[in-house]
Amino acid sequence: MKKIKPPSLSETIMTEIVCPNDTNPMGILQGGRLVQWMDIASAVCAQNHSEHICVTASIDSVKFKSPAKVGDIITIKARITRAFNSSMEIFVQAWAKKVRGQQAYLINESYFTFVALDDNAKPVAVPTVKPGSVSEKKQFADADKRKKSRLLSY
Ligand SMILES: CC(C)(COP(=O)(O)OP(=O)(O)OC[C@H]1O[C@@H](n2cnc3c(N)ncnc32)[C@H](O)[C@@H]1OP(=O)(O)O)[C@@H](O)C(=O)NCCC(=O)NCCS
Repeated sequence: MKKIKPPSLSETIMTEIVCPNDTNPMGILQGGRLVQWMDIASAVCAQNHSEHICVTASIDSVKFKSPAKVGDIITIKARITRAFNSSMEIFVQAWAKKVRGQQAYLINESYFTFVALDDNAKPVAVPTVKPGSVSEKKQFADADKRKKSRLLSY
């Protein structure tokens, strides 16, 4: 029998400071570095939910809404929306905040799909997600449509 877990159990929050090595010559955070951090946060989330090593199977369209600058504090939140058989959809959001000032602003959000692997690197079944809040239930319901359109375009 499959385990059932709520999204809160594997929610992952990661913080970083944008250092000069993370930026372009104008001091703006490089897109690839941000996606790398989002990938790590969502991998931790998927691995905590599944209790297996997970690989990134796909990343949905990634839009860079606002720039972050050197010295900014980046907060990344990764939360599972739904688990299928061996795959899991993780919703990842990233915010930036200046050191002086309280207001964090959204710089990126995307859906990452991870697949859990067994010891032979084969996909393995993962626990079911039990959504609780209204927004978790909506994310859970919509995840099915997103998975179908993702696989169609694959
Ligand atoms: C992801 C991977 C394990 C899938 O293996 P596979 O042999 O194609 O497995 P299957 O066809 O049985 O699919 C397994 C699951 O992956 C999902 N999947 C496969 N390709 C996918 C894609 N491009 N996007 C989203 N989900 C995908 C399937 O829908 C299935 O989900 P389900 O079990 O929940 O129904 C394999 O393609 C792989 O190893 N890719 C490389 C991963 C990688 O190197 N990532 C970067 C480093 S972490």
